[in-house]
Amino acid sequence: MKRSKISIVGAGNVGATTAHWAAAAELGDVVLLDIPQTADMPKGKALDLFEASPIFGFDSRITGTNSYEDTADSDVVVITAGIPRKPGMSRDDLLATNAQIVGSVAGEIAKTSPNAILVIVSNPLDAMVQRALAVSGFDRRRVIGQAGVLDTARFRSFIAAELNVSVEDVQAMLLGGHGDTMVPLLSCATVGGIPVTHLIKPDRLAEIVQRTRDGGAEIVKLLKTGSAYYAPAAATAQMVESIVKDKRRLVPCAVLCEKEYNVGGFCVGVPVVLGKNGIEQIIEIPLNKEEDAAFKNSVQAVKSLVEAMEKLVA
Ligand code: NAI
Ligand code: 2OP
Repeated sequence: MKRSKISIVGAGNVGATTAHWAAAAELGDVVLLDIPQTADMPKGKALDLFEASPIFGFDSRITGTNSYEDTADSDVVVITAGIPRKPGMSRDDLLATNAQIVGSVAGEIAKTSPNAILVIVSNPLDAMVQRALAVSGFDRRRVIGQAGVLDTARFRSFIAAELNVSVEDVQAMLLGGHGDTMVPLLSCATVGGIPVTHLIKPDRLAEIVQRTRDGGAEIVKLLKTGSAYYAPAAATAQMVESIVKDKRRLVPCAVLCEKEYNVGGFCVGVPVVLGKNGIEQIIEIPLNKEEDAAFKNSVQAVKSLVEAMEKLVA
């Protein structure tokens, strides 16, 4: 059986950790690419990871490079290239630099891997998906942003810790942009099939929702030199797995929404089915009044960000 080829552009914290999870789960052969200024760094990380493979017993070719030729004909390309947040910075502060970087990466990938599915991770996430979509010219089904899998994982972890139950029994869904306006859906959160609202009091749930919204900032404040990468990389690897194994996971991802949820042409997080063609389906669910207002507010925040980006790249 032919192995999938997974290229990861940006061999920094999120990129290298995604390579780690993806290789250890034998999702395919992995190519780690970074800019020429980083010289042999991607080769070093790839070799180090390959040398771990006999210990953990995974068969995956892992290579590092500064050249897009080595990523040619990838099945999936993960884009983590860009700068991360430092304390005091919001994701939106990264806009100008990362729009330029993600645009140039998407252009290179469109030439060398025209059939790939792009998984975008660089921030500010929703605007970067919009940028990669515009520059690559790919169908919207093949340009997918990672944020909701991470944000729901944070939400699920906090609920599990609160109730002292297994994280495996907590399910959740979330909508909107990857920012302060994201909308964790209390109406969809369950623990062992029981609505979370039956198990945790409203005031405490509101605190957990707020902690989820602030989840990225909480890690930045602790790390001081950059942003989260273990959970973001695990979330990214889960998306790659769903694509290369055609698992059809139903997860929240950022995708261009037109008529769906009346978004009208912006990339935001919504529930999707993720499979071998990328976005197999966008799932529309009824929202209560509060959720609908919060989602509209989040879409508005994404629109403002995209408009600001469009002026910067014009
Ligand atoms: P990092 O600084 O550790 O790694 C970024 C890498 O990108 C560096 O190695 C850098 O040399 C490389 N790079 C810069 N320009 C490039 C280019 N033109 N081509 C190829 N590589 C290039 O940063 P980290 O922590 O890995 O974060 C990466 C990005 O992911 C940031 O924008 C961060 O905000 C975002 N992020 C997004 C998350 C999400 O849930 N969507 C979660 C965590 C991080
Ligand atoms: C996070 O949520 C920084 O977006 C990144 O951790």
